[in-house]
Amino acid sequence: MAGEIVARPDTFPEILAMPTRRAFIGQTAAVLALAVSGRHVSAASHAPATLTARKVSVQLAPDGYPATSIWGYEGRAPGPTIRVLQGERVQRRLVNDLPEPTSVHWHGIRIDNAMDGVSGLTQEAVAPGEAFDYDFVAPDAGTYWYHAHNRSWVQVARGLHGPLIVEEATPPEVDREEILVLDDWLLDPETALIDDSFDQPMMMSHGGRIGNLITTNGRFGLSIPVARHMRLRLRLINASNARIFPLQLAGLRGWTVALDGMPLAAPEPLQDVLVLAPAQRADLIVDVTAEAGETAHLVRIGNDDRPASQVAFPVSGSSAQTPRAAPAPLPPNPGVGIRSLTDARPLRLVMSGGAMGRMDSAFLGGERMGFRELAARGRFWAFNEMAEMTQAPLADLSRGEPVRLEIVNETVFPHAMHLHGMHFREIREGRPVGPMRDTALVAAQETREIGFVADNPGDWLFHCHMLSHAESGMMTWVRVT
Ligand code: C2O
Ligand code: CU
Ligand code: CU
Repeated sequence: MAGEIVARPDTFPEILAMPTRRAFIGQTAAVLALAVSGRHVSAASHAPATLTARKVSVQLAPDGYPATSIWGYEGRAPGPTIRVLQGERVQRRLVNDLPEPTSVHWHGIRIDNAMDGVSGLTQEAVAPGEAFDYDFVAPDAGTYWYHAHNRSWVQVARGLHGPLIVEEATPPEVDREEILVLDDWLLDPETALIDDSFDQPMMMSHGGRIGNLITTNGRFGLSIPVARHMRLRLRLINASNARIFPLQLAGLRGWTVALDGMPLAAPEPLQDVLVLAPAQRADLIVDVTAEAGETAHLVRIGNDDRPASQVAFPVSGSSAQTPRAAPAPLPPNPGVGIRSLTDARPLRLVMSGGAMGRMDSAFLGGERMGFRELAARGRFWAFNEMAEMTQAPLADLSRGEPVRLEIVNETVFPHAMHLHGMHFREIREGRPVGPMRDTALVAAQETREIGFVADNPGDWLFHCHMLSHAESGMMTWVRVT
């Protein structure tokens, strides 16, 4: 990659405040000094037993801008890292100090349905001043996350999300692990306050709410010092409402070892672009190949195809003489997913709507309405002609039943389709392929097929994780009994 790679905030006024970036380096170094190598870095013992959702003021924009009032868990965004060993319980008391009801969803966990955190489906939203106890087992190792699941398109955009890490009993050998939460924020360029036009039709009917300030771990221009030949495990989480992150490595040699928490059968060399859709995660093992004095980068390809630094890794010194051998695969998780499609129940989901789409009409409240009428009610999208979550599920499945679900995207936008409670595999040429996933990016006008075994009883959402799309029609559910 030629030329200098710098951090760019997207369209937020471009102030490349050097003092800020230096301060970031200082902070990161201080945090790193505390971290011991190996597992259970620091979070497990210090993680709070409560998860309080409240308003807080943080410095999101570069120095020189005012602070931003956000909603965060434990006063920060991303919220505290929750870290457990595979098979352990996660217990957290959600305390709602927000001005509106909320709930927490544990994204990607094959969870007990009552703990899934979907307000209106698996629990009542927790009213302001009230609390709710979440208690569940994390059966699969991997990189997961938690986020608000009541009025998600507003609450997640305001900052209510955090990492949930489930460690392997035998983790891969690395020098350091970094959780990198990629996000974007839509801020007023003058005041740095969160733009509260969450229901703006233009965004809802197009790609969703795209921010103008891109951050990693709540900071613009994050920088992490490293040494040459150091091996890192990067746990990437896309926590943004709607932004798709195309990522590349510069000065780093890397392998993808897991997607959506689930290990790949073999590590895949990361040569080209890794596309991370909203809600998706990727575990990378990367070796620092840049020389001391240089800076390696996790690179984001901008809309204009210009590379920008998502995370900078300034290199000083050398941690070893020579590079290491390619990493081994991560140990597989217990659920292997669908193996055969014989007797699989065929389902079909047709997505329509959006700007420049072909949706003439759809149902809302049992009534067929034209696109304009739907738009006037804030509904721009539909699944199988339903512009809202229906009383009846998309499918009533018996426990253990294999399912093949065809997803037909008739819109001119990509959608990140997420299934709660169970993981699926892609079906290509009639066969399940690739790792288990919980979120699939379906490109504009594309048809894809996924397969899963309905092995987790309960009511499970299936929705677009471009969160304003979900709110404006792209949400359905399946029942497993
Ligand atoms: Cu991560 Cu229903 O969501
Ligand atoms: Cu989920
Ligand atoms: Cu969508």
